[in-house]
Amino acid sequence: MRFVSIPALGVMLLATGIALTPYIGTAAPPKKSPEKTPPEIIASREAAQQFGAALKEALQHAIDNGGPANGISVCHDKAGQIAAEFSQQKGILIGRTSLKTRNPNNAPDNWELAVLKQFEARKDQGEPADSLEFAAVIEDDQGKKTFRYMKAIPTAALCVKCHGESIEAEVEGKLKELYPNDQARGFKEGDLRGAFTLAAPVP
Ligand code: HEC
Repeated sequence: MRFVSIPALGVMLLATGIALTPYIGTAAPPKKSPEKTPPEIIASREAAQQFGAALKEALQHAIDNGGPANGISVCHDKAGQIAAEFSQQKGILIGRTSLKTRNPNNAPDNWELAVLKQFEARKDQGEPADSLEFAAVIEDDQGKKTFRYMKAIPTAALCVKCHGESIEAEVEGKLKELYPNDQARGFKEGDLRGAFTLAAPVP
């Protein structure tokens, strides 16, 4: 995911006076103590959930009205647009990434790569795929701090039409044309397809 600075978020974080530092390098607190969950994690969870719902709705609508091949257009043309709209609206940069990407623009950076691997390991240890999340404040060489949050995206039945092991010919043809380096296939229901990834500068 590419980084752009969104001033609005700085204002939002300042306004709520959130102390982010105690969560550096630690997983988000467990759900059973919601009163202790920091507000920026609750906000990130909500933003990821709404972004995911908007994508799924657009996708389902397109598939209902023209099959999976039609759905590809929505993913191709609208996923980025919906992400940009949400980023603007929420004041937090939001996107999707994966260990196996279809669109190379969604390739993970080093931090995202580490978190995606951590999600796979946690899933292998029995954590439910749909509750995997991670948050941290990271600092670059110049001391610039960024709040980052990721939430796992499990593969549902709908997803394997375009990300599964056997893909129907019409869909396959369209995918080949648009994504010559597509790696986002071979997934089974229940696998981790990827993650939502959110980032915001910390003032
Ligand atoms: C109609 C075909 C289609 C279906 C169904 C579909 N996807 Fe995709 N998916 C795509 C396309 C096309 C892209 C590339 C979008 C782009 O260019 O940014 C993509 C990209 C993604 C990405 C971003 C990472 C990457 O690989 O570039 C994730 C995550 C993802 N899909 C998850 C899912 C999940 C979860 C489902 C099921 C709820 C699903 N997809 C269903 C076609 C589909």
